Amino acid sequence: MTDLLLLPGDGIGPEVTAQVRRVASRLANDLKIDERPFGGASFDELGSPLTDETLATAKASKAVLMGAVGGPQWANAPRDKRPEAGLLGLRTGMGVFANLRPAICFGPLAGASTLKREVIEGLDLMIVRELTGGVYFGKPRGIEDLPGGGRRGVDTQVYTTFEIERIARVAFELARGRKNKVHSAEKSNVMETGLLWRQVVTDLHARDYADVELEHILADNAAMQLVKNPKQFDVMVTDNLFGDILSDEAAQLTGSLGMLPSAALGEPGTPGLYEPIHGSAPDIAGKGIANPLAAILSFEMALRWSLDRADLADKLYAAVGKALEKGARTPDLGGGLTTIQMADAVLAEI
Ligand code: NAD
Ligand code: IPM
Ligand code: MN
Repeated sequence: MTDLLLLPGDGIGPEVTAQVRRVASRLANDLKIDERPFGGASFDELGSPLTDETLATAKASKAVLMGAVGGPQWANAPRDKRPEAGLLGLRTGMGVFANLRPAICFGPLAGASTLKREVIEGLDLMIVRELTGGVYFGKPRGIEDLPGGGRRGVDTQVYTTFEIERIARVAFELARGRKNKVHSAEKSNVMETGLLWRQVVTDLHARDYADVELEHILADNAAMQLVKNPKQFDVMVTDNLFGDILSDEAAQLTGSLGMLPSAALGEPGTPGLYEPIHGSAPDIAGKGIANPLAAILSFEMALRWSLDRADLADKLYAAVGKALEKGARTPDLGGGLTTIQMADAVLAEI
């Protein structure tokens, strides 16, 4: 059985997952690691961004680590053949509905963000993003020609009680092991799904989680509060689209988009999908300067959440912290290290 399936993907994906492989073989050389093409690379080689065989291998592995997908060369491919469609198919195929996106500002990086030190120093925020529903998957969708000329594009935002309740449960459970506070972000002031979201979260809270502090917040205000005073947040639960946007914003609070890992989890006993939240970064791909820490920290989350090796996760987390303390910085963090040198700095601390 595969312990860890690597899906390097496109752009900087292969550059950062190569560093995960180096770290994994140093830290846990008993792990059985496999690799499959994914995204645009899989489309070019096998005609589909996600083949049946890759999905089957993913579901039969203990954990899957994806680098990044996408790029301008596939911009005109039909929607279902685009690299991003492969990723959405992998998420639904694996049933990983809960996406944990931790925004943690490592002490030594408090000066690396574009925000003031006092605003972000000590930041430890967990965004819980619903990952397999909402406007990403709602039907109908499409672009159609209008009889009188012009075209019409349609996306559908849809959520059921079941979907909202199961993601809110994840947020409340996580909060209990942290600072016991949940913010639920939606647009109940204008959206029906937002209104249902607020009602379902309120009911669940009263029924099973009254001991956890709950605040509802409109998603636009949440975006503003994230840059104004991000340390007021502990756990923030939100839908697929708002979670996508708010987590990129939160990433910059930690110093760089290249720092933020994620874990996508499904029902207990099923494999998790681990991915840095950044994309394929076409502007720096091939230059060897991508920050590998989001990918390395995604492996850290895999050790913790799927591979039952919390001891090794702790060791890796500490090594990343020490490397940063000693000044290791890729260009996105204001330094001059290459991707490989940044991984070397982490390896030196293991
Ligand atoms: P992006 O995340 O690829 O890049 C945004 C900016 O952040 C760029 O300036 C990039 O250089 C920088 N950046 C990202 N990761 C970095 C890293 N590890 N180190 C240093 N700098 C880093 O977003 P984009 O440019 O909007 O999208 C590019 C492509 O990636 C698109 O095709 C998009 O669909 C795809 N994408 C994929 C994922 C994913 O695979 N999970 C996530 C987001 C975007
Ligand atoms: C992310 C990405 C993906 C998303 C894309 C590439 C499908 O932006 O993981 O944050 O929108 O979920
Ligand atoms: Mn995103």
